[in-house]
Amino acid sequence: MKTTLSIIKADTGSIGGHNRPSDVMLAKAKEAMGVAVKSGLLTDARVTFTGDDIALLMIHDKGTDNPDIHKLAWDTFVATTAIAKSQGLYGAGQDLLKDAFSGNVRGMGPGSAEIELEERPAEPFVVFAADKCGPGVFNYPFFCSFADPFHNAGLLLAPEMRGGFTFNIMDVNYTEGDRVISLKVPCDYYDVATLLRDPNHYVIESIVENAGGLTAAVASTSRLHNIAGKYVGKDDPVAIVRTQKSFPDTGEITSPWSLAHYVLGNNRGSHHVAVMPVKQNTIISYFDGPTIVTAAGYCVHEGKLTEAVDIFDQPFWDMIREKASQKTLEMRRQGFFNPAMGPQDEMEYTGVMENLKRLDEKFVVRKK
Ligand code: F6R
Ligand code: MG
Ligand code: MG
Repeated sequence: MKTTLSIIKADTGSIGGHNRPSDVMLAKAKEAMGVAVKSGLLTDARVTFTGDDIALLMIHDKGTDNPDIHKLAWDTFVATTAIAKSQGLYGAGQDLLKDAFSGNVRGMGPGSAEIELEERPAEPFVVFAADKCGPGVFNYPFFCSFADPFHNAGLLLAPEMRGGFTFNIMDVNYTEGDRVISLKVPCDYYDVATLLRDPNHYVIESIVENAGGLTAAVASTSRLHNIAGKYVGKDDPVAIVRTQKSFPDTGEITSPWSLAHYVLGNNRGSHHVAVMPVKQNTIISYFDGPTIVTAAGYCVHEGKLTEAVDIFDQPFWDMIREKASQKTLEMRRQGFFNPAMGPQDEMEYTGVMENLKRLDEKFVVRKK
């Protein structure tokens, strides 16, 4: 049976700054998903939040990029925006960058990742949702999970994975269209590494297993400031990863997150901090962060979801959260000095650039 998993996420307004959506907004999103399941448009759905973003996980049989599914997500976010406005919440409609819906949420603000699959007898997958960072947050962990035996023991132990994976990588600085490259590991390992080392420029769009051609992972690739031309909020990406058998197992998918790697994001989208793996429905707090990621594990069967297993809600991750806090605090001690604050061309607010322009005129070149 062919099933499509669609995760679409947006910040449409928050309580207390950029901290979390309100209960009324979440109830509205759940109601909209319930109506869509009843009408038969969806076979199942879940609503969660990660920081200030509402994530809609929609299960259906309509394939990827289906206008009805995208319109459902868009209309739901328009409805939660209206509630945010009526409650006087901050940043109402922040991620809805266009006035009129035009068939697909891509390029309109919300982050989306979709995968159409032939259901295996057991179909386990993990949904990642991150807040206060860009889509490049997945570069390090997905590279490790799909290409590095330090994290993916199955690359050595499981014959199904010996063929390796193809990484489809997008140049997110290119705004005229989708500029992508496909590279295979292990043969193109160093080329994949060369691109993914710069997570603000090159990001993983999808990963496909070489042996069978099955899509293993998909991630959102939108960069809001490339769409809007100015800072309108961080991109706050989502991803879906299928696990087990010819894919890395769920443990191999979670393993790299134990580093709590540094990414650009956090306060004003302009600071390097350590990503903290957190429980579902965690709020934003310290320094408009820290940058957080949630992971929900599910099985889908004949279009119906199981309950979620909250993968980072396990004692092991308490220590990683502590480490992430320590790493973030160490970096924060350096304040605005690079690399604590991001590089100039990644500044989300224009203040530094405007000031530099003014100062530039005052520079003098000394006569010899
Ligand atoms: C980061 C973020 C916040 C805001 C900050 C200022 O992604 O959303 O750190 O950048 O709170 O918000 P504004 O510019 O709305 O006053
Ligand atoms: Mg926000
Ligand atoms: Mg957000």
